[in-house]
Order: sequence, then C-alpha cells, then structure tokens
Amino acid sequence: MMLENLEPAAPDAILGLTEAYKNDPNPAKINLSVGVYKDADGTTPVLSTVKEAETRLHGSEVSKSYLPMTGLAEFNKTVQALLFGPDSELIGSGRIATAQTPGGTGALRVAGDFLHTMFPDATVWLSGPTWPNHPGIFAAAGIEAQTYPYFDATSNSLSFDAMIDRFNTIPAGDVVLLHGCCHNPTGVDPSPSQWETIAEVICRRQLLPLVDFAYQGFSDGLEQDATGLRTLSRHVDEMLICNSFSKNFSLYNERVGALTLIARSAQEAETATGHIKLRIRTNYSNPPAHGGAIVAAVLADEGLKAQWHLEVDSMRERIRSMRELFVQTLAAKGAKQDFSFMQQQRGMFSFSGLTPPQVAKLREEYSIYIVNSGRVNVAGMTESNMNTLCEAIVAVLD
Ligand code: LMR
Repeated sequence: MMLENLEPAAPDAILGLTEAYKNDPNPAKINLSVGVYKDADGTTPVLSTVKEAETRLHGSEVSKSYLPMTGLAEFNKTVQALLFGPDSELIGSGRIATAQTPGGTGALRVAGDFLHTMFPDATVWLSGPTWPNHPGIFAAAGIEAQTYPYFDATSNSLSFDAMIDRFNTIPAGDVVLLHGCCHNPTGVDPSPSQWETIAEVICRRQLLPLVDFAYQGFSDGLEQDATGLRTLSRHVDEMLICNSFSKNFSLYNERVGALTLIARSAQEAETATGHIKLRIRTNYSNPPAHGGAIVAAVLADEGLKAQWHLEVDSMRERIRSMRELFVQTLAAKGAKQDFSFMQQQRGMFSFSGLTPPQVAKLREEYSIYIVNSGRVNVAGMTESNMNTLCEAIVAVLD
C-alpha cells in the first residue's frame, strides 16, 4: 500500500556497476569499476599477515561482547602511529583521538553527522571531481556541499592555482575535504611543496581540513603517502582524518577504518570525542570487532608488521606495472591518443579520459565495466585480461 508507488532508485555509481557485472553472462567480462585490488590471477587475496593474525585471534578470543563506541583502544593507537609516525609528538599529547569505524565510509558519515550537528552552518568543499559517494554521504548527513577546482582535463594535471584561488575565498569555519593520497577518481595528487601551500592557505583562512585517506601505501609507500596529512598537521591545530584499511589490508568486507580528530588541547579533543560518540551511538552503536582486531594484531607484532609492509609494496608494485602495461598495450593496439599521462597518476585508479558514451559502449558491447567518469581500476587489470581490454578500448575510441 505504501510501497507500491515508489519510483525505482538510481543504481549506485560504483557498486551498481558491480551488481550489473555479476549479472552479465559474458565469460569475457571485465570489472574495472569498484576499487578492489586483484592479484595476477584476478583474485582479491586475503593477505598472509591477515591469515596469521586471524589464526592467533581464533585461539585467543574469549568473548564477543560489545566494543566501546570508539572501538578497540589498541587499534586506535595503532592508527595514530600509522598516520603520523610512531614518534609523532601528537601521540601522547592528548590532542589526538581516534574512533574505530565500519570502513572509511563509516568514518566519513560519522564525521558528517558530527559536523552537521555541531556546526550546522558549515559547508563542506569537495574536489571537482571526487569520489561519487562523497556528495551522497554529506547530503545524508544534512551538510551543504560545494565544489572546488581540482583537475584540469586538458593537461591531465592538478588545477593547483585555481584550487588555491578558491580556497582563498572560502569563509572561515567551512570544511575542506582533501584526498590524502591517490586521489579518487583522478589519480592526481599535490606534490609535497603544493601540500605546504595548501596547508598554509587552509590555516590562514581558518578552514577545517577533513582528510579522506583510503589508499595509504598505494602511491609511493606507507610513510611517503602520509606527507600531505603530516604537512597539514604541522600548520593547522584542528583536523579530521577518515582512513580505511579496506585496500592496504585487503579487508574490504570486514569494514574497518577510523575517524581521527586533532584538537588544540587534550580537553577539547575529549569534548569533541564525546559528541562523536553520540553520533556513533545513533548510527551503529559500536563498531564490528574482527577487522580492527586483525589490524591491531598485525601492527603490534614487529615481524608481522614488516611482512605486511612487503605485502603492501607488492600490491603497489603490481598496480604500477599494470599501469605501464596498459599504456603500452593501448599504443601497441593502435590507440591514436597518447595515454602516457596515466603513468604519472598514482594509486588504484586512472582517469582515462574515456567519455560517458564510450564507457556505455564498452559495457554494452564488450561487457567491460568502467565508472561513468572514465575512471578505471588499474588494480583490476591482469596480464590475462589486458589484450581484450585494450582492443575493446581502441575499438570504442575510433
Ligand atoms: C571505490 O571508489 O571504488 C572504492 O572506494 C569503493 C567504494 O566503496 O566505492
């Protein structure tokens, strides 16, 4: 009676494509939509360090009682060390507080709810373009969103000057969402010196940086990829960070991430955490335990941690080699356009420049699934699917 008149909902811009891919009977289908890492055999692996931690946890777990609203304390400490380095003076200062969340998306939603409740007049500024779920999350939280210039499609590079010019006009008290590394969807990141300028402007304009940090380790390395975040933390005294372990721990379906806040004092961090806890309580009450326990177990053990670093290195290296092979194979198959700019892009994604009609043709005629913006998940390419993929792309380019 109430449901009969509902209009169908639009499919999700990313996950909707994976649903369509799963229903596609074509055996040659290729899914380069959702950002999920595949190994050379096309499988999303469970990391060996994760398996080892799970074995240990299986033996030692004695209870499945609720976690605190902010999650596992050991996990939260570990997150701070990974974000800022174990010797950071923030750690132990009391100015930093972390809440374990169900994935990076959960962290963003809690951040959105917190911001909307405490600062109802604040606008959040998103990069143009950004992850298609960002506008939806902030709309669901009731926050107004605006866009700042980020990507210059003609040069396939950062619109740095335009971005800084816009930051210089944003009113104090607004929130600027920055991608910590491996910008999604473009793969184009600021350089270390550009981060300095960004941090300086954000500080001078009294804006609140909200860093979405979902790909630590997938650009240049776990430490190097935190450059933007750490640069910001040297300039500003308040910041929010939403990080995820979906990619760098390959823990996608365990939903493990964190919301970290930095405040001016320990007292202010504690007060803000109190409000964040209220937002968590009305969202999902407290986070699932298993993924956080795995991350904490791996990072607490020096041997497992070193092994995990190698596993992240090897995922990053495979993506880099696929990026190269993709550019070479497109050229070898006769692509008239030059795709070499993709070799400068970082992380899982490449912004290919394919247009929505070309993307639609790839899906309808070749069962190749790419996000409408032309973003391809390089981590879904393998030596086995590369020829089929590049032949189809060259065919739709003509
Ligand atoms: C993506 O952008 O594909 C990933 O962040 C996964 C997702 O949830 O969209």
